[in-house]
Amino acid sequence: MRLLVLHGPNLSQLGTRDPTHYGTATLADAVAVVRAVHPDTDSAQYEDEGALVRRVHDARRDGTSAVICNAGALTHYSWALHDALELLEVPIVEVHLSQIHAREPFRHHSVVAPVADVSISGAGLVGYRLAAEAARALLGLESSSGEESSSGEESSPGDGASLGGEAS
Ligand code: DQA
Repeated sequence: MRLLVLHGPNLSQLGTRDPTHYGTATLADAVAVVRAVHPDTDSAQYEDEGALVRRVHDARRDGTSAVICNAGALTHYSWALHDALELLEVPIVEVHLSQIHAREPFRHHSVVAPVADVSISGAGLVGYRLAAEAARALLGLESSSGEESSSGEESSPGDGASLGGEAS
């Protein structure tokens, strides 16, 4: 069962983007955290709303089993993304590195949340592990903890005590 990790604008800059809120891990690190939980994972990142919407459309027919989505700022206003995600018939997990509800008021509202099965916010890179576990649970797969977590990739950033995101 293939997971699709989707990222929206500016998340390509993770690693050097506002470390106070997003930590220093890169986008590749975040995807690696998901792959460590569920190796059959595709990922894509777009700076453009239309490209992100088109990738969601493609996910309707490319064998995607569940979507993990951090839409960046599009989270807060892209009803086009909302409508595209609503067309998906697979589980959707929304994830944010930072705690959007504790930041500026414009970040408090998510248009993704109403079409997501699970929303995770503020756990930094750990949130990606939780998102992958949630996607697996929604697909009826057992938790990845245990023997599967002894693979080499499991030692990816975010696996420490730190959340790997913003300081609390
Ligand atoms: C974000 C939060 C959004 O408000 C912001 O625009 C982002 C990143 C997060 O992961 O915390 O680009 O989605």
